[in-house]
Amino acid sequence: MKIKAFAPGKVILFGEHSVVHNKPAIAVAINRGVDVELTSRSDNNVTIEVPLINYSKEHELVNKKLVFELDSQNKMITDYIYEVINLFEFDTGFDLTIDIKMYLGAGLGSSAAVTVSCMKALSLFNHIEMDKKEIATKARDIEIKIQGAASPIDTSMSTYGGIIYINEEFELQRINFDMDLPLIVSNCELSGNTGQLVESVRQKYVKYPEIVGNIFNAMQEISKNAKHALENGNSEELGDLMNLNQGLLDSIGVNTVELSDMVYLSRKFGAKGSKLTGSGGGGCIIAYCPENINRIYEELSSKYPTFKCEQSDEGVYGQIIQE
Ligand code: MEV
Repeated sequence: MKIKAFAPGKVILFGEHSVVHNKPAIAVAINRGVDVELTSRSDNNVTIEVPLINYSKEHELVNKKLVFELDSQNKMITDYIYEVINLFEFDTGFDLTIDIKMYLGAGLGSSAAVTVSCMKALSLFNHIEMDKKEIATKARDIEIKIQGAASPIDTSMSTYGGIIYINEEFELQRINFDMDLPLIVSNCELSGNTGQLVESVRQKYVKYPEIVGNIFNAMQEISKNAKHALENGNSEELGDLMNLNQGLLDSIGVNTVELSDMVYLSRKFGAKGSKLTGSGGGGCIIAYCPENINRIYEELSSKYPTFKCEQSDEGVYGQIIQE
């Protein structure tokens, strides 16, 4: 038996940091994520390969279960894979290859995409029907178990796909829109510490409540306007709002020289809008490129790891390609 599955990563289009202070945000599932291939074996062995991190391990099933130890100190990407495997019992062994086609630890939801894609492949292998709701819930439970806490955003994006508006009550609402969203993601390969960045913003808010409070209010208006811009297919406004959001993120101290370099490089060569995505302090930018995408990609990729992507409307999918 051979099975293939895919789950998308995500980018935050608007509202990072202000979302922590109960303001709305917008997240987009991207058509770049994690591909999983599973092939059954006739023995009891299980092999796990993750080429991106040169990980390769062989195990044996004992009483239909895989015996493993988590690397809980490091919260490794492999921990997510083992936790998913632990949900199932197996009659035969299998070879599992997890091909991560995005950056790790860069705010793109790689651990959620790994968890969700593996869950899809393994449920198909075991002939167990898991609907998207069950996948999203179980994937989030695994993120909470490994990370200690997790918002439902990453696992929801990987499972359901699409564009999601996270409102002031932290409810996730799908945005219906009918426009292309050609994006470029560039990675400066330095990683910011999300916890520390969130704390530094909180401290600024305590020190300058009026100023930072109004910056959060402006970010709120940006997310609300962006929702309408998406619904109305207004690409000019969408780009403007990204640039406004970037300026405000800079003002609260989460931008860096490298992120700025990528943002301005993309704008110089024709991006309609560009901004950091995620917690900042390193990590990635997104550039919205309805025009000139190839030129912008050339320029950014000559200096930084870069990929092109669009929104993934479908979310996780998988199929048995050989019985
Ligand atoms: C991190 O990807 C986004 C932040 O808003 C933190 C969070 O929402 O948990 C900075």
